[in-house]
Amino acid sequence: MIKFLDIKKQDKRINKKINKNIENVINRNNFILGDFVKKFELAFARLCNSKYAISCANGTDALTIALKILDLPKNSEVIIPAMTYCSTAFAVINAGLKPVLVDIEPLKSTICIKSLKNKINNKTRVIMPVHLYGSVVDINEIKKIIKRKNILIIDDCSQAHGAFLGKKRVGSISDISCFSLYPGKNLGAYGDAGIITTNNLNFYKKINNFRNLGSSKKFIHTQVGFNSRLDTIQAAVLIEKIKLLKQYNLKRKKIAEYYDKNISNNKIIKIKYSNGSVYHQYVILVNNKKRLINLFKKNKIQYGFHYPKSINQIDSLKKFFKSQTFSNAENLAKKCFSIPIDPNLNKKNLFKIVKTLNLF
Ligand SMILES: Cc1ncc(COP(=O)(O)O)c(C=O)c1O
Repeated sequence: MIKFLDIKKQDKRINKKINKNIENVINRNNFILGDFVKKFELAFARLCNSKYAISCANGTDALTIALKILDLPKNSEVIIPAMTYCSTAFAVINAGLKPVLVDIEPLKSTICIKSLKNKINNKTRVIMPVHLYGSVVDINEIKKIIKRKNILIIDDCSQAHGAFLGKKRVGSISDISCFSLYPGKNLGAYGDAGIITTNNLNFYKKINNFRNLGSSKKFIHTQVGFNSRLDTIQAAVLIEKIKLLKQYNLKRKKIAEYYDKNISNNKIIKIKYSNGSVYHQYVILVNNKKRLINLFKKNKIQYGFHYPKSINQIDSLKKFFKSQTFSNAENLAKKCFSIPIDPNLNKKNLFKIVKTLNLF
């Protein structure tokens, strides 16, 4: 069986260190906002080249908290792409704001900046681009569009840990950046986890306080916040795993290059990734998905779909986007097929995956 993702294998080299760290947390009774949390936040801020990093319970909370601390008027508009994970839209709605969808670019996974320009109006307060599959949105282009307008950029970096935009790291480019550290991400914990980065001291203070029930001092609660702290045990795992991230991202890139070069079948359409991508997923488009699924099953190769529905097609979200259509996002949802891109796939695995695809 070729696994889609093999976390145990990825972490084999650091397994002993992780167990020792966890034991340390238990022995010291250091479970909530313990030493490893601060250490991990510092390491993550350093990775992103950002001034501050504040950990929290998961990526969905990271996005929701980033929006909540802005104290925007109810129903202020937040622009998000029509293809992303449900959490991006849920965060906007749960923060009492209005999600406005923009289609993605054709044969890319990221928001169409030209269409985005047309959706900006005097109610737009936030633009929330998503670096989907690890492919980085050109935030500099968005900055040019919103120049001098009272609009913030909060990017959803859940699939882009360590990615680049030019020479800058994702996590240091926007006003606030939000990351999921869900187990399957390029950097993932052993359970739910998330982190937020910013260069803005005021945002840092508010977020740090908000994720701890609005408290920076025991029994003093200055915001109606969330209980959304990163467990010290998860930080004890992440502090070791972050050391492998750059190396594993490089391996993902090499695998992507191999696929780009060797997948050759006119029934398969490849997606274009940005230069600084970290290839969280390698997604191809096919018309006859059922046949490819059967072929992968027969060859014992795991696969995935990211994502089978665009945001406007998700059951609980349909009512917000009545009669709107987003042809590129819907096309991606219909045809997307994710092939394994685990950094530890070997040459034999890759050869078999490519051979299977080329015979499809
Ligand atoms: C693009 C995107 N946004 C948000 C999330 C939500 O993160 P979490 O599952 O940690 O809440 C995820 C991950 O699942 C994601 O991929």
